Amino acid sequence: MERWGKRICCYRELPSTNTEARRLAEAGAPEGTVVLAAKQTAGRGRRGRNWTSGENAGLWFSLVLRPDIPAGRSSALTLAAALAVTRAISRITGLHPRIKWPNDIVLGGKKVCGILTEQSAQANAVKYIIAGIGINVRSQEFSKEFAEHATSLAEQGAEPFLEGALLMAVLEEFEDCYVRYLKTQDLELLLAEYNGCLVNRDRPVRVLDPAGAYEGIARGVNRRGELLVEREDGIVPVSSGEVSVRGIYGYV
Ligand code: BTN
Repeated sequence: MERWGKRICCYRELPSTNTEARRLAEAGAPEGTVVLAAKQTAGRGRRGRNWTSGENAGLWFSLVLRPDIPAGRSSALTLAAALAVTRAISRITGLHPRIKWPNDIVLGGKKVCGILTEQSAQANAVKYIIAGIGINVRSQEFSKEFAEHATSLAEQGAEPFLEGALLMAVLEEFEDCYVRYLKTQDLELLLAEYNGCLVNRDRPVRVLDPAGAYEGIARGVNRRGELLVEREDGIVPVSSGEVSVRGIYGYV
């Protein structure tokens, strides 16, 4: 691995590895810095939700990235991170996780990992991106926002494994996905693999758009990482951010 794993900052406890990684990035931490905590006391999820991160219940860590890309290109990077985690879980546990667009990792129809990417940009160029990854290894407690649809690798039948091995596998797979992403600054080189893992593919979905919810069939993502939703009036590219997508019959 060229970038990751050289500097891993390990803590027994942090409020949030994303917050600490951001602090380090502001202080000039190089790309490849990893911040890992056995426990988070204020773990954060997307859209302001809490992410319960009990002591040694999962892998809670954040990566500092400094890609030389325009600010508008970063959302596809989150999808590349999801693919890397999917590969790593599959390699270490032998289980077959899928991805719920854009970046939830799903096993048995429930979420086993969430990713929170936060970026800092200046003059429309990315200064740094923090990719925070939370993998429920044996968690039994989940915050109320996630409880209904959450699971852990242990609950899904993973045999005991070395968590350090899973972390290194994620870093290795992320290195590969990141290099491919940087070549085109989009998902071109990862598209077929990502769409192959997409649990929503060819399923009916409800798009919760603040401008009005609608339904359609998810047909996969494009190079920009937008979900292509087929409606009666044609195919609509849906970008993540404000919008969330649910299966018509439940979480996926
Ligand atoms: C989500 O699905 O809403 C994203 C959850 C991301 C959780 C991880 S745990 C490590 C990192 N630190 C945080 O505070 N959040 C992310």
